[in-house]
Amino acid sequence: MKSLHSAAMRWTALVLASGLLVAAVALDNGLMRTPPMGWLAWERFRCNVDCEQDPNNCISENLFTDMADRLAEDGWRELGYVYVNIDDCWSSMQRDERGRLQPDPNRFPGGIRRLSRYMHERGLKLGIYGDMGTHTCGGYPGTTLDEIEVDARTFAEWEVDMLKFDGCYSNATEQEQGYPRMSKALNATGRPIGYSCSWPAYQGGLPPKVNYGLLGKICNLWRNYGDIQDSWDSVLNIVDWFFDNQEVLVAAAGPGRWNDPDMLIIGDFGLSTEQSRSQMALWAIMAAPLFMSNDLRTISGGARSILQNKMAIAINQDPLGLQGRRILKERSGIEVFWRPLSNDASALVFFSRRNDLPYRYQTSLGKLNYTAGTYKVYDVFSGRTLMLKDSSALVVSVDPTGVVMWYLSAPAKTRPVFRQFSQDGRLGPLNRSDGANAVPPLFL
Ligand code: GLA
Repeated sequence: MKSLHSAAMRWTALVLASGLLVAAVALDNGLMRTPPMGWLAWERFRCNVDCEQDPNNCISENLFTDMADRLAEDGWRELGYVYVNIDDCWSSMQRDERGRLQPDPNRFPGGIRRLSRYMHERGLKLGIYGDMGTHTCGGYPGTTLDEIEVDARTFAEWEVDMLKFDGCYSNATEQEQGYPRMSKALNATGRPIGYSCSWPAYQGGLPPKVNYGLLGKICNLWRNYGDIQDSWDSVLNIVDWFFDNQEVLVAAAGPGRWNDPDMLIIGDFGLSTEQSRSQMALWAIMAAPLFMSNDLRTISGGARSILQNKMAIAINQDPLGLQGRRILKERSGIEVFWRPLSNDASALVFFSRRNDLPYRYQTSLGKLNYTAGTYKVYDVFSGRTLMLKDSSALVVSVDPTGVVMWYLSAPAKTRPVFRQFSQDGRLGPLNRSDGANAVPPLFL
């Protein structure tokens, strides 16, 4: 009896300890072990509610079913783009008589439940938008502290799969209470609902105001910084912020908990082909959620092929889930980015800030801390494969505002590829459990 009791105690302790372990690593809803992918309405369609004058582009159920059809029929879904996400301006200006949010009856005559069914029938998922505060950023009803539980239950009844929870019209204290409380309320519904928190973006995105340890436990992804706009300047501004703060951000990310530098604007009006490749490559290096905000009904073949690039997607979706970093900033305006991948593979991006001509960047794999012999290199956007020896000088030609992106598989025999300093100052092998800190020791 006694031994049974203590065995049970040990078992309980083990279960508790492993539960704590999971909780310490990521929000315990099992979702988004790789960065979520899909489509989000905001950047391209904003708060266009004029369905009379502009029926094809207004925020309405037709827009979301149109995009769902494209995702399902044009090869997107098979590549992982499965979320169809509603953003602001979907709701009626008033809650219903029982205090619940309700969609605008003219623009969503079938209701959200019918829309989620439409997605699920096609192997897609539906995301919805709410706001911790009195109003959404667009002035629609928000979710005050008292309304969190009822709104979580409503979303679950509608069978939505993800919530983006914005933070307009609330103060820091309300956000501190509201974001964890919504996480609990969503979990309490019993429906797995991916949870995107805009909280850090409203608090400057950096410690000590932002607690990334806590965010990793309560949210699956979070907006850290300002909104993307349809311009190269906006992409550059975001890239600069994320890589200037990489020491903080790399450690925050991992399976089930992602930094979100905002939507992909590839296929819109602001980016050239080179710049579109740059956004795709850098979002892959950052292990960023890939939510396109574009018009999939009219997207060009060129933009589509960048967004559907299988190797770029595989790098983004690598199961190890380590966010990459900038490892070199050259005076010439060339920057080099690196991300460690599973199976001792890795990705490199050479990015040019120049505005003149394709720049011939001279380097070698050895200079980038690849020291294990000969590597097989797959060029992500040209599709070419090269064999490169670590010691050989090489020239990488990088177009203005463009990138060259490589996937490097580990050499067959020699491992490990990346090493770091151990605590006593010696260079040791990469410690996988501590991989977020694995940095080529020569740089930055
Ligand atoms: C904020 C968010 C955007 C979008 C708008 C909607 O600005 O950061 O992503 O959701 O609100 O009004």
